[in-house]
Amino acid sequence: MISEKLEKALNDQINAEIYSAYLYLSMSAFTERAALKGTANWLYVQSREEMAHAIHMYQYVLDRGANPSFADIHAPLALFKGVEDVFEKVLEHEQKVTAGLNSIATLAMQESDHACYQFIMWYVNEQVEEESNDGDILSKLKMIDGDKGLLLNLDSVLGTRIYVNPFPTDSKLNGTAPALG
Ligand code: FEO
Repeated sequence: MISEKLEKALNDQINAEIYSAYLYLSMSAFTERAALKGTANWLYVQSREEMAHAIHMYQYVLDRGANPSFADIHAPLALFKGVEDVFEKVLEHEQKVTAGLNSIATLAMQESDHACYQFIMWYVNEQVEEESNDGDILSKLKMIDGDKGLLLNLDSVLGTRIYVNPFPTDSKLNGTAPALG
């Protein structure tokens, strides 16, 4: 069992991960409509990763004998000033996600819940890479400074991103879960 406080914190985080998936899907639609299909691909892959995070956490809550709870998912932003604005918001959003994960890690530590601490530290470490990638793309966009040729080059690079299941041994995430009923 986990404490009620940790159960609530993890459920809030599941909601935040699903919101992330929803936000990146919205950003993917915006960039696809702006003819930046590579950028749209990158954001779509990110959206899928966020949903995988949510399901992974959901399973963890169940595995700890706790209750996943489902709250409203806020409508994501849908209008942006441009692709640089999109990635500024991606980075801002991920910094908030990092703060939430750090709070869970602190709580798990205070409660000496070593299993939960270890579970959540995977995400804390993952955020280092996420923020670094987002910051890198944002820096490049600032350098590009509206040059359409350079922007299309970056768009091609972002179009090469392929979804890789972050939890290949998790049956709920690799398509081998038994059917319900
Ligand atoms: Fe699942 Fe981008 O944090």
